[in-house]
Amino acid sequence: MRRYSRITGTGSYLPPRRLTNADLAEELAASGVETSDDWIVERTGIRARHFAAADVCSSDLGVEAARRALDAAGVLAQDIDLIIVATSTPDMVFPSTACILQNKLGANGCPAFDVQAVCSGFIYALTVADAMIQTGSASKALVIGAEVFSRILDFKDRTTCVLFGDGAGAVVLEASDTPGILASDLHADGKHVGILCVPGHVSGGSVLGDPLLKMDGQAVFKLAVGVLDEAARATLAKAGKTAADIDWLIPHQANIRIMQSTARKLKLPMDKVIVTVDQHGNTSAASIPLALDTAVRSGRVVPGQLLLLEGVGGGFTWGAVLLNM
Ligand code: ACO
Repeated sequence: MRRYSRITGTGSYLPPRRLTNADLAEELAASGVETSDDWIVERTGIRARHFAAADVCSSDLGVEAARRALDAAGVLAQDIDLIIVATSTPDMVFPSTACILQNKLGANGCPAFDVQAVCSGFIYALTVADAMIQTGSASKALVIGAEVFSRILDFKDRTTCVLFGDGAGAVVLEASDTPGILASDLHADGKHVGILCVPGHVSGGSVLGDPLLKMDGQAVFKLAVGVLDEAARATLAKAGKTAADIDWLIPHQANIRIMQSTARKLKLPMDKVIVTVDQHGNTSAASIPLALDTAVRSGRVVPGQLLLLEGVGGGFTWGAVLLNM
């Protein structure tokens, strides 16, 4: 009998400090940076974001999301046999955030590693976990997206600092006789490294290059809309499905206009798209599992439904996963 993987629990966590657009605009104004709630809502759909306290790391947010996903799945931490953390804001250069999180969770012993694919990280991590479960290398995996993007934002650059927030989302993915994950499709094109990056690196005891996020917003927008459509169609085709079969599209939560364009191209009404970007901004690798968990806990996503998750981000990376809940 073929072995599949299936999501059996979801969880998420946002740090308590919430800033509305007005709160952020007020803080930025103090350092001479001008923005407004109207501009941010109209161009991005974002109304608020959460920022972690200075001593809180990605692993702290991730472990809270993981505990909630374990509770929802009815799985004990010690029974987890694989941990993958998708993050671009790791706690340390090394070891991985996954190892740090594993120890906080008390799931010591199982393989644990990070995946770095920026905002596509959760899609990459879920695909890797699915493959490891299908081949029998794992049976109960924790797949987590966790980010503290506030640490890498340039608060003097209003074109980027209003877009991002901190948070984490997690799923428990278990081996199953019936298909959960039906198909996935991953891509990267390194020629676009420069349009979205944090170019700094650690060298000889200091940071060389700029350690803050740089983005060509319009280039990212154009590329994102095209590749998300391609990834959605390729993933659906692999499973012999069409967009009309989808119950919910759960895209990376970067910008409402990117989500609207993607939905339009797939001829999906916006009431089939899970949107949480308004509440937490772009949380990079955390955004898809955060949106999924919000949709599960609000009763919109229920067992038996067909979900298309898709991500796009720095690298440039992109991909999609089609699954039955
Ligand atoms: N507040 C007020 N005004 C602003 C702000 C701000 N925060 N930021 C820029 N502006 C101004 C600009 O200075 C410019 O003014 P000007 O016309 O006087 O020169 C004007 O607004 C328009 O700026 P544009 O950059 O042309 O605005 P655009 O409509 O392209 O929107 C945005 C910018 C929102 C970044 C858009 O390009 C976008 O959504 N890009 C996608 C990027 C994205 O979502 N990235 C997320 C990370 S990547 C990922 O997750 C896939």
